[in-house]
Amino acid sequence: MSTLNVLKFLLALYCCFRIIICHSFYEDFIRPDFCTDKVLTSLESYLTLEAGSVIQCAAICSLDTYCLSVSFMLKEGKCFLNFGLLADDCGNGVNLADSVYFKKKKAVKTCMNNGTLVNNDCVCYGGYVGTYCDRLMTDCSDGYREMYQDVITGSYEILPPGAPQSFTVTCVMKHGGRTDILRHFKTVDKLNRTWAEYVDGFHYGQRGTWIGLEKLYWLSRSKTLDLIISLEKIKANSGYFKIVYENFEIGDSSTNYQLLSAQLNRARSEINATDCLSDLIGSSFSSYDMDNNQVQGLGCPAKYGGGWWYNGACAQCNPTGNLYQSGGARTGNDDEVFWGPIDWSPLGINIWLQN
Ligand SMILES: *[C@@H]1O[C@H](CO)[C@@H](O)[C@H](O)[C@H]1NC(C)=O
Ligand SMILES: *[C@@H]1O[C@H](CO)[C@@H](O)[C@H](O)[C@H]1NC(C)=O
Ligand SMILES: *[C@@H]1O[C@H](CO)[C@@H](O)[C@H](O)[C@H]1NC(C)=O
Repeated sequence: MSTLNVLKFLLALYCCFRIIICHSFYEDFIRPDFCTDKVLTSLESYLTLEAGSVIQCAAICSLDTYCLSVSFMLKEGKCFLNFGLLADDCGNGVNLADSVYFKKKKAVKTCMNNGTLVNNDCVCYGGYVGTYCDRLMTDCSDGYREMYQDVITGSYEILPPGAPQSFTVTCVMKHGGRTDILRHFKTVDKLNRTWAEYVDGFHYGQRGTWIGLEKLYWLSRSKTLDLIISLEKIKANSGYFKIVYENFEIGDSSTNYQLLSAQLNRARSEINATDCLSDLIGSSFSSYDMDNNQVQGLGCPAKYGGGWWYNGACAQCNPTGNLYQSGGARTGNDDEVFWGPIDWSPLGINIWLQN
């Protein structure tokens, strides 16, 4: 074939292709006769790409069931694929110069990630939230506010800001939504574990949890979550006492998860506890097989029987030690769970993140 013929052939193919696209465009899409000066906000779009024309933009939308409408910027050739539709009152629309909006004629709201449509609202599962179950929650409090109120406590997938991939945590979907860090309530559960276990996290007994330092790092990075420590008294004179730390943040693995920031808020705490964490700021995390204490030779993790941030004086608290549940005063053992200067032997300890 001569060059000219090849060009003619390609041109013919292109025109044919165009006709099919154009035909399907006018069949499938409509420009609503209300809100003609408005397009859907980019919050409602799940993908932005370059396109030669609104017809091309719509052709891409045709191929995806989640795509209900397109916003197209004529000058820039920017194509927004939307999983939403302009409301009848244009309430969710914005004015965007030189832009057009087209919706699929047969558009019905669809929920992503296995969500189901109930009374025109998406009911999401497994950690997905958003109008269309289009994103993962950043932590359990976010999930609680968005979707999972007073539902079961259990495993949920989360994606904290900046995290390279999602991961599973245990959420208590009550009281505003809590991301479990530590749950320690049984004397049989020994948390004198290896460094690898403290980094990866571990579960024990019925609901015992240590979340793992890598997950804790990603959750703490935005510094928006409070670290809450709750000690429970023995049943006879029962009660929970919360201690609230704000601006909690730890470093990444290269710092051995150094404690970077934690500010005790006494007004929000329910007990006048010792500020156990402020002395530990700057300390790396330690376990018996990885003692990162800058003061060598103290053997704090082996002595205390757990993993924690320790410095020269070890620590004024020992949440991962052994539970004695004496029912009264502290036993005085080094490995006992305690949080100074609380002088009673707790039934258990719970630590979570929340905002
Ligand atoms: C949706 O359900 C399918 C079939 O049960 C499953 O394979 C898939 O992983 C689920 N997707 C999500 C995001 O949960
Ligand atoms: C809390 O404890 C500290 C030190 O133990 C003490 O100085 C302070 O007076 C106590 N505050 C209250 C309100 O009891
Ligand atoms: C923790 O485990 C280490 C290593 O097995 C051991 O040396 C240490 O005594 C243990 N600590 C406690 C309190 O059990």
